[in-house]
Amino acid sequence: MCGIIGYIGKRQAAPILLQGLRRLEYRGYDSSGMAISDHSTLAMTKCVGKIENLAEKMKTSHLPGSVGIAHTRWATHGGVTELNAHPHTGNKGKLVLVHNGIIENYRELKDQLGPEHHFTSETDSEVLAHLIEREFDLQEQKNCEGLRKAVGCGLSHVKGTYGIVVMHEDVPDCLITARMGSPIVVGVGKDENYIASDATPILAYTRDVLFLDDGEIAEVKENNVRLFTLKDEIVSKKVEEIHWNDEQAEKQGFPHFMLKEIHDQPTVFEDAIRGRFNMAEGTAVLGGLNMTEQQMRDINRVIFIACGTASYAGMVGKYAFERLAGIPAEVDVASEFRYRDPIIDEKTLVFVMSQSGETADTLAALREAKRKGAFVRGIVNVIGSTISRETDGGTYIHAGAELAVASTKAYTNMVTVALLYALQFGRARRVSIATGQRMLNAFLEIPEKMNWILSQKDSIKEIAEKYKDYKNFLFLGRGINYPVALEGSLKLKEISYIHAEAYPGGEMKHGPLALISEDFPTFAIMPQNQLYEKMRSNIEEIRARKGKVILIATQGDERAKELAEDVIYVPAMKELLEPLLNTIPLQLFSYYVAVALKRDVDRPRNLAKSVTVE
Ligand code: AGP
Repeated sequence: MCGIIGYIGKRQAAPILLQGLRRLEYRGYDSSGMAISDHSTLAMTKCVGKIENLAEKMKTSHLPGSVGIAHTRWATHGGVTELNAHPHTGNKGKLVLVHNGIIENYRELKDQLGPEHHFTSETDSEVLAHLIEREFDLQEQKNCEGLRKAVGCGLSHVKGTYGIVVMHEDVPDCLITARMGSPIVVGVGKDENYIASDATPILAYTRDVLFLDDGEIAEVKENNVRLFTLKDEIVSKKVEEIHWNDEQAEKQGFPHFMLKEIHDQPTVFEDAIRGRFNMAEGTAVLGGLNMTEQQMRDINRVIFIACGTASYAGMVGKYAFERLAGIPAEVDVASEFRYRDPIIDEKTLVFVMSQSGETADTLAALREAKRKGAFVRGIVNVIGSTISRETDGGTYIHAGAELAVASTKAYTNMVTVALLYALQFGRARRVSIATGQRMLNAFLEIPEKMNWILSQKDSIKEIAEKYKDYKNFLFLGRGINYPVALEGSLKLKEISYIHAEAYPGGEMKHGPLALISEDFPTFAIMPQNQLYEKMRSNIEEIRARKGKVILIATQGDERAKELAEDVIYVPAMKELLEPLLNTIPLQLFSYYVAVALKRDVDRPRNLAKSVTVE
């Protein structure tokens, strides 16, 4: 959570940092700030609220200089105030620092620093600036090397997580960055370099990056980057190239990133399947699996571990693995998995699913699963992210940059990859070539059918406007569409702030039916699959209690109209692939409800895109 950007080069830093903060705003948007050096003094400005408030403020307090750091905050310790916004300053005001993460022992560190240290914020981060500034004063070398050593010494006292960038008034020719549990990327340019908490803000300038690992520290100068461990040993690392393009981080004429990302789905779906089919063998080929055919046959349990939307994508994977591969499969929410005692052995295959690849709970669960000897594979979007590097293999979902807090296209591509894995295992164990080929052919129909659903957006918008003032919603699905109901309800909650619950259709009569009244509408997913009649009965039960119903039904299903106030039709699809289509109307419905209620669609209150704290 929180976003960091740093620049050192020949250009004016302020516009670059401001633009970087705009790109990072999805990571935190309660306050922001930047500090710039003109090679003799440091100047700083901070602001509560959106990045545009900072931009406005900077019109009157122009900060000249070609070295700088900036931060957008998602509060953890201390309220949303200008004093708590980053950068934070050391006791003498000479060192400034931006920090992502949590310093667990900040109270002890403050006590150790003594009464001569005056803290102006309530944050845990400020103590780092004091600590490192003091260490720098103790160093003989008052240069970049001395600053790097001071950072190393300061951090040796710290318990917790951090991604930091440090700048010192007396050492204006370098920035120092370090990482422990909170990602840091160094962007390598020509006569200029960048530091950021993820690659999004630097894509406009360079695709060449160095990903810091935990326990590493980098000395970043205008034309040189050197890496070390915290114990000051040299680290050599290859510069990697990021293939995402900067356009993906633009709204491209859409009013919100979320709507743009919903519309990206037909295209990025094709990116997720490209080169991953073997039509002749009727199977998927996901090279990153790194398992022999024998190991694939020996697996006796599959667990999908993830949080939020990613866990609902995992639930689709569970249904598909059981159906195609005949392997018992389950989904575990990462924050639960890590604190119970999961039964795992070397015949368990764990898929860790994450858009950001940085979710703290998912990462901790990954480490636990590895410790217990499971095969651990990633299904991840952000290239070079921590989860992608700590798994022993896996697959990138190729959804491109997803910037709206509400996940849409990453969900779709996670589902896609999970289905491809299920097919690959199915073919290795029990599925025939012909069945595999039918499934692959169904995949090929998906983009056109997604486009058809997107072309219905105006009528979905009308429905959304009709229902926007209801205070509660129920989402119902059965089988592979139960995770779709869960995802629909989460989308509505997170961007419109309307209370919504999701249930499997068959559960209604065991309690939730008591909620139903004229004021409690139900959104039901009722495609013409093997559970159609069962779902119909569940909806009849709601109708009998005067509940209003919006239905997602298969094109041509005229009976659906008898059951519902409103029907959204979707093209027919092979059952296992239905979530790839049926989720889209729910995304659009939530989006248009949120717009009608004038919510901040891309940056919903209290949420952050990348949840790097527990
Ligand atoms: C999705 O709309 C949510 N913002 C959230 O549930 C998200 O899916 C979850 O935090 C997991 O994030 P990850 O995929 O980056 O791990």
